[in-house]
Amino acid sequence: MKAVTVPVPFVDLKTQCNELTSEIMPAIENVIRRAAFILGAEVDEFEEKFADYCDSGYCVSVASGTDAIHLALRAVGVGPGDEVITAGNSFVATTFAISHTGATPVLVDINPSDHNLNVNLIEQAISPKTKAIVPVHLYGQPGNMQAIQEIAEKHGLKIVEDSCQAHGSEYFGKRTGTLGDAGCFSFYPGKNLGAFGDGGAIVTQDPKVAERLRLLRNYGQREKNVHSMLAFNSRLDTLQAAVLLVKLPYLDDWNNQRRKAAALYHQYLADSELVLPTENEGARHVYHLFVVKHPQRKQLMEYLNQQDIFCGIHYPNPLNQATPYLDVRSAPNNLPVCTKLADEIFSLPMFPGITESQIQRVSKAIKSFDASAH
Ligand SMILES: Cc1ncc(COP(=O)(O)O)c(C=O)c1O
Repeated sequence: MKAVTVPVPFVDLKTQCNELTSEIMPAIENVIRRAAFILGAEVDEFEEKFADYCDSGYCVSVASGTDAIHLALRAVGVGPGDEVITAGNSFVATTFAISHTGATPVLVDINPSDHNLNVNLIEQAISPKTKAIVPVHLYGQPGNMQAIQEIAEKHGLKIVEDSCQAHGSEYFGKRTGTLGDAGCFSFYPGKNLGAFGDGGAIVTQDPKVAERLRLLRNYGQREKNVHSMLAFNSRLDTLQAAVLLVKLPYLDDWNNQRRKAAALYHQYLADSELVLPTENEGARHVYHLFVVKHPQRKQLMEYLNQQDIFCGIHYPNPLNQATPYLDVRSAPNNLPVCTKLADEIFSLPMFPGITESQIQRVSKAIKSFDASAH
């Protein structure tokens, strides 16, 4: 008879939602009673609090993380004919956001250690058309931002951070999102700070960028029916802002829980055959994802799955293998590190509230796979 085991989900959103129901329901009811669904008071309040949280001057909320990157690039002046450098292994939204400005993404290979941009390859990707760099703080950890800032300054490029996986992470004591001209966040439900649907935001120190973003997200309107530019409809719903206002004060604690879970994985998996993630000097990793490497990924994931332990792959293909980007320029050609890692990486269960016994169960199963493979 098969022993009864409690499944270990990849992400558990239900527990967190249930714990906060008594705070969130009145906040939602309050919006409904006032019928203030678009750009209501909660949107202003959330923007103010999230700007404070990031220690940034301004926050402009939008409808998604993808829109945050797209509109931020437009707001810093990126458009048709420009090139924008980014990492070859992000979620496809990063390159879609670049393409939606009319610019072309140029993909740069990554470090095998932190899976972020290899800063030594950036300059060979720069052309006279290059306008901006979009560093992705992948899995919740910033890469070598000092080098990126120096390259951007030297070549007169803008920096738009993709911080969609890195709410609350830090680089030498500064929050990610404040390390360039604009920092972009996603509030997709599974993110470290997630709404009850889609949402996003940009933080910036530049009042002109913030003002352009406010126009870009709302039909170019400063006042009703006066449209100063061709723009979009991309606003954070007031209902989502109300949810995010309840959740924001918990973000640091949830990130600490993620960091504690990461430390436990390190403790229990130190003698396994997995390659575990490392934390860069000066970086505070917030472990949106706990990404490991194993040469027999497929077999190991199947083995874990059979035991009701659920993992993910972030991401199974480099971006130059996505249909719209088959002809994209990359440095070096064909992104050898991205390509190799895409076959080895997978993401272990990680969420605030994951218990030590769940982490022990995952670790024990991995070690028993290693033992059976010998
Ligand atoms: C690195 C990265 N960039 C961009 C996005 C896009 O965010 P959204 O799904 O809110 O549009 C995501 C999240 O899905 C992401 O993980």
